[in-house]
Amino acid sequence: VSVTLPLAVTGRAMWYLTRSAGAVTLVLLTASVVLGILDTVRWSAPPRWPRFVLDALHRNVSLLVLAVLAVHVITAVIDSFAPIRLVDTVVPFVSAYRALWVGLGALALDLLLAVALTSALRHRIGFRGWRAVHWLAYACWPVALVHGLGSGTDASLKWMIVLSLACVGAVLAALAWRVTRAREIEPNTRILVLGLAAAGLVSLVAWSAQGPLAAGWSRRAGTPKALLASSTARAAAPAPTAAIPFSARVSGTARQSVSEDGTAASVDISTTLGQGARGTMTVKIAGQPLQGGGVSMTTSRVTLSLPSGGTYRGQIASLQGTSFQASVADSSGQTLLLRADLQIDPSTQAVSGSLEAQRG
Ligand code: HEM
Repeated sequence: VSVTLPLAVTGRAMWYLTRSAGAVTLVLLTASVVLGILDTVRWSAPPRWPRFVLDALHRNVSLLVLAVLAVHVITAVIDSFAPIRLVDTVVPFVSAYRALWVGLGALALDLLLAVALTSALRHRIGFRGWRAVHWLAYACWPVALVHGLGSGTDASLKWMIVLSLACVGAVLAALAWRVTRAREIEPNTRILVLGLAAAGLVSLVAWSAQGPLAAGWSRRAGTPKALLASSTARAAAPAPTAAIPFSARVSGTARQSVSEDGTAASVDISTTLGQGARGTMTVKIAGQPLQGGGVSMTTSRVTLSLPSGGTYRGQIASLQGTSFQASVADSSGQTLLLRADLQIDPSTQAVSGSLEAQRG
């Protein structure tokens, strides 16, 4: 049976939900921090916004942070791609997947819970106690930011960099405004706070350049080997000689089939590389058939053969429509990260597009 392409793949839906909820949480947390900072300033000019509006906004945005964070965390646990347990969401640094970076997320969540709990019990614990814990909200923000950059699949994608930069810019601007505006802050404290913020910014940029934005981060961040690539034989093999990284055009065909009883479907894509590299790439996606065509992915297999550099096998790590990222490895364990952007002609099933490969 032949069904219309392009694929509408939902197998990784949870993973996408985790990632988008993570990004939204960061934006909301940033908004909450900025509103909190603005809220505490003793207004020297007649306020344009009445204080209670800021108060209410700050409170509601913070509640929204908790709600979206719950989605981020629950989907991360439900999703089967990364082995994240419920305990990993509250106990920092015990996760099998990117322990340090996911652990920072758990730490941010603990800090947020402490802030939320003391806010709810504010009348019981008194203003001073509440205020002391509320300072943790400021600590929570950089911890969450670094968590997102360190554990995110999207960290090196342009939109995530722009989003993170916008969040950093917003908080730094609010902080600068706060310390220069508030009359009760002493000049020395002012200089100290601005100095620390500048040092934080420089460290963040330096770390990002060496870490999440540099090649091989998936492996260095502590992604389990099995997820990086399902390579079996790790016997000594000649080092690949293909020029990597490369960017090439691919062209070929796609074929979709559905089992007799209609419960299983698969898509086989077979392509040849040109303009930038020579070789072949085949992709097999298997799962349940979707109404209206396409496959809800449960398993995948990607094979890249480079005549000058051996054969790499692995699986798709993230898939959106007909674009995917995959991690493949050769028999010696050399890992490549692939990024493919394919177009599939629905009538002829002809495949064309681009493929980028870099060392993982
Ligand atoms: C205030 C708390 C948190 C914030 C603001 C936050 C934000 C983010 C952001 C922005 C990303 C990157 C998304 C992407 O690259 O697409 C991310 C990734 C991730 N977060 Fe969180 N997070 C928080 C807490 C947590 C907690 C408690 C967990 C649970 C263990 C968690 C698990 C993950 C995982 C597994 C990823 C990787 C997703 C991927 O590979 O793309 N996060 N988070």
